[in-house]
Amino acid sequence: MRRAGRVVAEVLQVLKSSVKPGMQTRELDVIADREIRARGARPVFKGYHGYPASVCVSVNHQVVHGIPGSLQLKPGDLVSLDLGALVEGFVGDSAISFFLGTPPSERAQELLRVTEASLWAGIRAAQVGGHLGDVSSAVQEEVERHGFSVVRDFVGHGIGRAMHEEPQVPNYGTKGLGIVLRPGLAIAIEPMVNLGGHEVEVLEDEWTVVTRDGSLSCHFEHTIFLDENGPEVLTNIE
Ligand code: MF3
Ligand code: CO
Repeated sequence: MRRAGRVVAEVLQVLKSSVKPGMQTRELDVIADREIRARGARPVFKGYHGYPASVCVSVNHQVVHGIPGSLQLKPGDLVSLDLGALVEGFVGDSAISFFLGTPPSERAQELLRVTEASLWAGIRAAQVGGHLGDVSSAVQEEVERHGFSVVRDFVGHGIGRAMHEEPQVPNYGTKGLGIVLRPGLAIAIEPMVNLGGHEVEVLEDEWTVVTRDGSLSCHFEHTIFLDENGPEVLTNIE
C-alpha cells in the first residue's frame, strides 16, 4: 500500500504542475493514465462501475466524480483532482484541490485552507483504541466552526485490496461512537466541503456530483494506515 500510495501522490503532483488555464480537463486524463502506467501501476477508477477515466476532475461547484472532457479550465477555477492506483494488488486513493491562479475571493481561499485542515484533523484523530467517530467528528468540527458544510451523501472508506472496503468513513459523526480502530486498519479520509449548503445532486452523466446551491466545493483525500505508532499517511510525498 505504501507503493500504491506513492504512485498516487507522485502522479497528483505531476497533474498539478501540468494544469494550465485553457486546457480541457480531458488532457489531464491522458496525463494521469500515462503517468500511472509509467510507474508500473494501473488506474483503479477506469471501469469502476463503468467510470470512463483514470482521474476525476471536479471544477468549482462540482464536488466529486467529475468526468474529464471538453470543459476548459480558466483562471480562478477551483480544481479538484482525485486519483487511484493499483500496485501489486493494493490500492492507493487520494485527492487534492487548488486554485488556478488567484482565488476568486477570500472566502473561497478559506474554503480550501479549511478543507485541507479538516483532513489533517481527521488524520490526527485516527488513533488505535479510539473510535471511528473520533475521525468523523474531528473533520466535521473543523469544517463547521468556519461556517462551511460537509457533504453527507458521499463518504470516505476502508481501503486495501479493493478501493472501497468496510467501514464507511463519514465526514460527520460523534466522538466515541462507531467501530474501535485497530492496528492494521487502512482507511481513506476524504472531506468534501461546500461553501454553501451541504446538499448535492448528481448530473445527467450519472457521475458528476454538484452542489445544489451552486456554491464552490472542495475535496482533499489521503489513504492512511493505522498501527500503534499512530496514523501513517501513505499518499503524501514531501
Ligand atoms: N476517490 C474516489 C472514491 O473514493 C473516487 C472513485 S470514483 C470512480 O471513492 F468511480 F471514479 F472510481
Ligand atoms: Co476515496
